[in-house]
Amino acid sequence: MEYLLVELADSKDVKEVKTVLEKSGKLNKNEKIRRENNGVFKIYTRICEKTEWEGIMMEEIGRIIDHQLGTYRERTVEAAGIVGCFERYIDGELKRRGTVVEEDIVRQLRLSLPKKYSVYPPMLLLSGQTLELEVWKDHTRFFPQLLEQEFPQCTHIAVNKPIIESDVMRRPFNLVPVYGNFGPEPTDTLFTNPSKANFKEAFWCSVVQNGITQHWAPRYTMFSRGNIKEKKRVLQLSKQKQNLNTLPVAVDMYSGIGYFTLSYLANGYTVFCWELNPWSIEGLIRGLTANHHSYLVIGADEVLDSKKYHAAISSGVRAFVFNESNEESMRRFEQLSVPMDLQHINLGLLPSSKDSWGSCTRMVNEISNSKETQIHVHENVSINDFDTFTNETLEFFQKDCFAKFLHLEKVKTFAPDVWHVVLDYLVSPRKGDS
Ligand SMILES: C[S@@+](CC[C@H](N)C(=O)[O-])C[C@H]1O[C@@H](n2cnc3c(N)ncnc32)[C@H](O)[C@@H]1O
Repeated sequence: MEYLLVELADSKDVKEVKTVLEKSGKLNKNEKIRRENNGVFKIYTRICEKTEWEGIMMEEIGRIIDHQLGTYRERTVEAAGIVGCFERYIDGELKRRGTVVEEDIVRQLRLSLPKKYSVYPPMLLLSGQTLELEVWKDHTRFFPQLLEQEFPQCTHIAVNKPIIESDVMRRPFNLVPVYGNFGPEPTDTLFTNPSKANFKEAFWCSVVQNGITQHWAPRYTMFSRGNIKEKKRVLQLSKQKQNLNTLPVAVDMYSGIGYFTLSYLANGYTVFCWELNPWSIEGLIRGLTANHHSYLVIGADEVLDSKKYHAAISSGVRAFVFNESNEESMRRFEQLSVPMDLQHINLGLLPSSKDSWGSCTRMVNEISNSKETQIHVHENVSINDFDTFTNETLEFFQKDCFAKFLHLEKVKTFAPDVWHVVLDYLVSPRKGDS
């Protein structure tokens, strides 16, 4: 809809015109009266016809004050945000191409505009069937406009499809780049054996959650915003420490890019963590650096003995990052042979972290000198099986340790009636109990 735009050169007239328009219900209050750079004031009316405007002037103040008239197109409520940006784009395309963009195409484009998105600077990550669709191939000029107008902190757009359940490294095979340079196309070699140059060329994102900066390469590592509630809980839980005379220790068996690891470190823990994916290790290193933690990465063929460990601790290292399977964790602790005040063990793998439960009870019995350790078990569980799973896990820990169930945290739904849950257990050693 087009309305009249009244331009006044004399500031003294502004109040009078505003009052008249307000009184007759013809002032567009959604638009501020602004003074332009050339000194002219612009007043947005709800009047369509010049004659109506002049009639109101004569009736209310008995004269036509000195003014210029223009028109403007009203911004509708939908014209805000992504939809508004799209409508402006289509308007612009009509003028630029000098032809009508087919109604049916416009309808398809409109229908596939993103409805759900997350901003992970410099990437805008969309979900659902959206800008990756064929119909957009002829409308990629929209993408930079969308970023410039609505997401100025972003330079890249991608669409996120669910990650593949069976991939133990939880890699984002289904990330579809839409706009921007996402670095080299992933290959098997790039996934499993990346070089320093590959890390450098790749596209990296970062986000700050609960004051903790995380870095990841969206084509090679997973990142889940949905876990934010659990991240916050871990940060809170690990604030309480039992024994302030020794260095509290946390073990993160599936560190990924390190969110839980970074939370424990933020609360003053020394962390031992394991991770298979070299890209996650690189993300973790970037996260450790960004959050100012000293760390030591230990490759599969390197040894961490007590001498090296104490030297590292003396130099301020608090994160020991093992780039290997956590099946090695007990062998590593035996080799290290240093008693630990083990307060937390985090098992953050879905759909199940069962494979590492046995290592946990061994750690509690054989390397921890703490009276009790909290174990946080992640699992996808059907809502009908919460009790059964809680008890099964408890029985497992009770085989070799004293164990008590503390809490079941529902993190998010994974499928209808299936929840990503975290179960907390308080586990104490049975050594010397025979
Ligand atoms: C759900 S992600 C971890 C999320 C993590 N909390 C974060 O902040 O990124 C699980 C991670 O465990 C790793 N992983 C899976 N099996 C493993 C194993 N046996 N040993 C070590 N890491 C493993 C995967 O490569 C993946 O990065």
